[in-house]
Amino acid sequence: MIALAGSWPAGMPSMVEPYSAVDVIRAKRDKHELSNGQIDWVIDAYVRGVVADEQMAALAMAILLNGMTDAEIVRWTAAMIDSGERMDFSMLARPTVDKHSTGGVGDKITLPLVPVVAACGAAVPQLSGRGLGHTGGTLDKMESIPGWRASLSNAEMLAVLTETGGVICAAGDGLAPADKKLYALRDVTGTVEAIPLIASSIMSKKIAEGAGGLVLDVKTGGGAFMSDPAMARRLAETMVRLGNDAGVRTRALITAMDVPLGFAVGNALEVAESVEVLAGGGPADVIELTITLAREMLDLAGITGKDPADTLRDGSAMDVWNAMVAAQGGDPHAPLPVAKEHFVIRADQTGVLTRLDALPVGIAAWRLGAGRARKEDPVSPGAGILLHAKPGDEIAAGAPIMTLFTDESARFALAQEALVDAVAIGPVGSVVDRLPLVIERINEESRG
Ligand code: URA
Repeated sequence: MIALAGSWPAGMPSMVEPYSAVDVIRAKRDKHELSNGQIDWVIDAYVRGVVADEQMAALAMAILLNGMTDAEIVRWTAAMIDSGERMDFSMLARPTVDKHSTGGVGDKITLPLVPVVAACGAAVPQLSGRGLGHTGGTLDKMESIPGWRASLSNAEMLAVLTETGGVICAAGDGLAPADKKLYALRDVTGTVEAIPLIASSIMSKKIAEGAGGLVLDVKTGGGAFMSDPAMARRLAETMVRLGNDAGVRTRALITAMDVPLGFAVGNALEVAESVEVLAGGGPADVIELTITLAREMLDLAGITGKDPADTLRDGSAMDVWNAMVAAQGGDPHAPLPVAKEHFVIRADQTGVLTRLDALPVGIAAWRLGAGRARKEDPVSPGAGILLHAKPGDEIAAGAPIMTLFTDESARFALAQEALVDAVAIGPVGSVVDRLPLVIERINEESRG
C-alpha cells in the first residue's frame, strides 16, 4: 500500500519528520537528557497529530518516572508557549501583574484580589479555568452572578482591563494549545503528578498571558493538589525559576490548605463571601491571604505607597468589582442563586472543634452539585457548604457545624458520607494543631 501525504499513519516518521517519537520515548526511558530539537519537535508533532496519544502518554510516564533537567523543563515550557499565541499588554498605561493558585477548597481569593490590586493602580488580567474534581473553578463561581459572561474576545478583554483595571475571563483556545491536549491526556493516563509536567503546564499558560509579574499561591495540606509540603516547595521553586527565566517577575507563597478558606464552599456562596470581604467584612483568613498576595503583586508591579487593605475600607475595591462585573454583562446587585434544599449538621458534644478537613468538605460540596465530574457537566450555582465554626472554635452540643445546600435532596446522603471523618470535637481547652496560613515565600533568591 502506498501512503499518501496527509494520510501517513500516526507515529510513523514521514520523510520530512526530523525525529521519531519512539527514539524520543526510548531516550527518556533510558534517563537521557532530551535535546532542544527533540523537545521542540515532539510538542509540535503532538499538536499536529504526528505523535500519537499513546506515544505521548508513554513519554509523559517516562518523564514522571525519570524527571527532567532544568534545561529540559525550560525548553518544554517554551515549546508549549510557542504552540499558541502570546498576549501583549504593553499598550496599557498600568503595569500588569497576575496571580495563579494551584487550587483549594473555598479558595475564592481571586475574586476580591483582582479588584483590590486594580484599585491600587495595577492592571490584572486573570485568565481562569473551570473546576474539575473537589476544587472549585473561578469561572464557575463568577458565572453564578446573573448575566456575567466568561468568554471574551481578546479585544473585549483588553477593553475591560483598560476600563476597570481588572478582568476575570476564560483563557482562550489560542493560549498554549499543546498544554490543553497534553493535560487532557495526562488526566487519563496517571501522569498528572509529575513536577516538570505540572510546572510547565501552569507556567506555559501564565507566561503566554504576558503579564509583567506573577505571584503563585501554591497550596499544601490535605485539601491541596500537592498535599506534601516538600513537593509543594519543589513545584514552587521550579515555577518561580521558569517564570523569571522567561522574563516574568515571579514569586510564590506556599499556603495552607488543611482547612477550607473562609466559611463558604460552593459557587454563589463563595461570591457572596467575596463581596462581604470587598465590603470591609468577611472571614479573617480570606482577608489576610487577599492582602498578603496583593502586597506581593504590587511589589512586583513596582507600585509603592499603597496599602491594599485601604481599598477594602474605602470602597475603592468594591467600585472596581462592580465595574468589572457590569462590563461583562453581570448585575453586581442582583440576588445570587440559592439552592432549593438545605440540611444542618450539628455538634454531638460540647468542646473545641479540633479538625475540619478541607478534602472531605471539598468532596461533599462537589457531591452536592457545586463541582463537576466531567468537564462538560453543568454545576449547580447555589450548591455547597456554609461552615459555622473553624478549628479552635468552642462549640456547644447541638450547635450547627455546617449547612449543606443542594437542589436535589438525594445528594445529602452522598455528601454526608464524604464528611463522616471530616470533623473532630475535643474536650474544652484542646489545643489545635494547624498549618500557618502562609508557610513559606519563594522568590528568585530562594532558588534551590
Ligand atoms: N494545573 C494545570 O494547569 N496543569 C497541571 O498540570 C496541573 C494543574
